[in-house]
Parts: sequence; structure tokens; C-alpha cells
Amino acid sequence: MAHDYKSKPRDTFGSKFGIIAAVAGSAIGLGNIWKFPYMAGANGGSAFLLIYLVFLLILGVPAMMAEFTVGRKGRANAFTSFANLTGGSAWKWVGMMGILSSFFIFSFYSTVAGWTLGYIVRTFTFTDPTGPFVQPEGYFAQFSASGWLPVLYQIIFILFTALVVKLGVTKGIERTTKWMMPVLLLLMVIIVIRSVTLPGAAAGVSFLFKPDFSKVTIDTCLNAMGQAFFSLSLAAGVVLIYGSYVKSTDNMMTSTASVAISSTVVAVLAGLMIFPATFSFGVAPTSGPNLIYVALPSIFRNMVGGQFFALLFFILLSMAALTSTISMLEAVIGFVSEHFHISRSTAIWLSIAAVAIFAIPATLSFMPEPMLLPSWLGGKTVFGTLDFLTSNILMPAGCLLTVLFVGWGPGRKWFRDEVTNGGTIGRRWYKPLEFLLKWVTPVLVAVILVWGVL
Ligand code: TRP
Repeated sequence: MAHDYKSKPRDTFGSKFGIIAAVAGSAIGLGNIWKFPYMAGANGGSAFLLIYLVFLLILGVPAMMAEFTVGRKGRANAFTSFANLTGGSAWKWVGMMGILSSFFIFSFYSTVAGWTLGYIVRTFTFTDPTGPFVQPEGYFAQFSASGWLPVLYQIIFILFTALVVKLGVTKGIERTTKWMMPVLLLLMVIIVIRSVTLPGAAAGVSFLFKPDFSKVTIDTCLNAMGQAFFSLSLAAGVVLIYGSYVKSTDNMMTSTASVAISSTVVAVLAGLMIFPATFSFGVAPTSGPNLIYVALPSIFRNMVGGQFFALLFFILLSMAALTSTISMLEAVIGFVSEHFHISRSTAIWLSIAAVAIFAIPATLSFMPEPMLLPSWLGGKTVFGTLDFLTSNILMPAGCLLTVLFVGWGPGRKWFRDEVTNGGTIGRRWYKPLEFLLKWVTPVLVAVILVWGVL
């Protein structure tokens, strides 16, 4: 099983832009638009941005290259790629950790993604006195706790994801992300222009760009590190399986750089969308996770053209989430269909049925008295447990092992060849990359892991 992998025909991305759109689509998600702004807000504005950029370079880029090369060389889903490359050794379980991460992330990410659909629908009844734009706080609390409605939106979101993945890599994933990512950028630019032209917006712009190093603590650095890691969708079998659809002649170094840059640009644009508006309307920029579902709706309500901009905003948010969930599902069904030799469609139906078992309780975690897991499993809600399990344990551990595999393990034998396409491209980047991958990245990821478990 592990020997004939090179002879099988495999769907490949049709163009360089297609690869970048798909991987950037995965990377750019709620993490950039929702989490980055409020983290930057609480951690010294552009001081946080600077630290984040450093970690992106010394942690994110090398780890992403490691995953890309395992996928491109292994030519399969995360589990089978590791198996192919090591003659079926235990390394394949590192791949399995990634696939499980995608499976569990999909389960709780779809909760938040479903909310965005609910908010899109609500922009059509913008002035409803009980709706989110008139009563942001009350509405969010009531909507997220209402049980069946968010579950319905979540299921719709999962089905949308399944529909795209079902069409395949080129016709589904590549074609969808290729138009969605530019549209997303365009919508963001439109909202940024609206936001920075509000009265008093300048204070928000300088909040984002004026570094406040007095707010920088060890925690800031750890947060920036975690964010650099999370925002590139590492260790979820995603970059790995997308890498397996990349032709062996493509330059993975420039693709990785493009993804890292676009993800950062979107995070900064998200800050430029949000902070000028929050300052203009006197909303606290550090209001945390509620920023998007509570603070922003109240701002839209009071802004000229607010209904239109609210609609654009929630559409862009759901597109950003969709291009991420597509990648999670692909990582899962790529494994299910290849490993069990069943069709992609069957694999998709089986997988989303299994996802629903976790996803629905994740959404119901926001009910007034949610089910809590037994204390030996942490005693949290299903949503909280899935988040903790993936963000704090599975992904950092999986990333650490992947980086070690390539830097010190069996992967080191061919890593150079993969990065430089057999010595033909980017040779001067190789040495610094190898150095980071061996000595710096594993240490940083180990720090994330230890910090996350404690
Ligand atoms: N990068 C995604 C975001 O910013 C979140 C994410 C983390 C993710 N791990 C992933 C998305 C794995 C897809 C697959 O929102």
C-alpha cells in the first residue's frame, strides 16, 4: 500500500494563484478578522503586530514549509503521506493528529460560522427593535443561547462546505477560493474606507499603528506566538493535503511567503475596519471576543449606510469562514476516501454525519445551562473542550512532531530537495530555513505546547 503512491494520478491545483488562494483561504478566517483585532487591541496595538510578524517569520513560515513538503512528497492525505514516506512507521499517527484536529475544529468553528449566517439574515430586518442592530448585547445573548436556530444555521454552513468539497479540488476548492479571496479583500477595503472616514477615526488608526511597548509582557509574546501559529492553519493536515495537490515543479517557498503575507494583510485590514469605527463611536477597543457580534452591530446601527455595510461585513465574515471550513473538511475526507477506498461523496456524507455529533453539542454549549463534560475530561462545555483540545494540545504537539520529522527525523533526507526542487530554485533561502527549522521553530512550538497545557 505504501509503495505505489507515485503512480496514482492525483488531482492538482491548476495554477499558482489557485494554490495560494486555497491555502490563504484556509489561513484567513475568523482568527484574522475576529481574534487578531481584539488581541492587538489588548496587547499594545502595533507592538503586538511587530512581535506577531517576527513569530510568523521564525515559526510560521518554517513550520508551513515542513508541512507542505511532507504533503508534496508523500502525495496523499496527512496520515497516508507520513506512512508513504516512512514505510508505514508510527510517524503516520502524527498525520492522524492533524486530521483529528481538522475534524474537531470543524465541529466548533461551524458554530461561530453559523452565527455569521444568522447575522446576514438579520441585516434585512435592520431596524427590528429586538434585533442585533438595535439591541446588540441582548440579542447576541439570546440568539446564541436559543438552541435550535443557531444549530440550523450551523447545519446549513456545514452543508455549504460539503457542497464545495464534493466538487473536488480543482472544480470545487480552487474555483471557489479563487474568486472568494479577491472578493473578500475588496469588501474589506470598502469597509475600511467607510471606517477610516468616520469622524474621530484617526484615533483608531493610531491605536493600531502606534506601538505601545508598555503593554508588552511575556503574555503578549505568547499570544503573538499562538496567533502566528493558529492563523496559518498549521498542524491540521490542511497545508499537508493541499501540498499533495501541488505539482513538484511549483515553488513552495514563494507560495508560503504569499500566504503569510496575505494573512497578515487581512489581519491588519481587519484592524483598520474595526478600530477606527470603535474609536469613532466610543466603544472600548479591548472589549474582547464580543467585538464582532456585539460592538460592531451597535456601530453599524449608528453609521450612515450602516445596513449596507453590515451586510457586506457579515458576508465577508462568512466567506472567510467558509474557505477555512472547506480546508478542514478536505483534510478529513481526503483521509477517509483514500484510506478506506471509498468515493469522495460517500466520504463526505460519512464525515459530516460524524462532525454533527460534536458540532451540535458545541453550538448547544451556549444554552443557559449547557451540558458539561465530566471533570476527568476537564469539566468544560463541548465547545470549550474541543477548542482546548485542538488549540492547546493536538495542534502544538502535531506541529512540534512534524517540524522534528523534517528537521531531525526521516524527513531531513529529502527536505532540501523538496524546498529547492532538486537544487534548481531558491538555494540561498535553504540554509536559514533549515537553521530555523532545526533550532528555533521546535523550541517555540514546544513553548506554546507547555504554556497551553499548564
Ligand atoms: N487559520 C484559521 C483562522 O484564522 C483557523 C484555523 C486554525 C484553521 N487551524 C485551522 C482553519 C485548520 C482551517 C484548518 O481562522
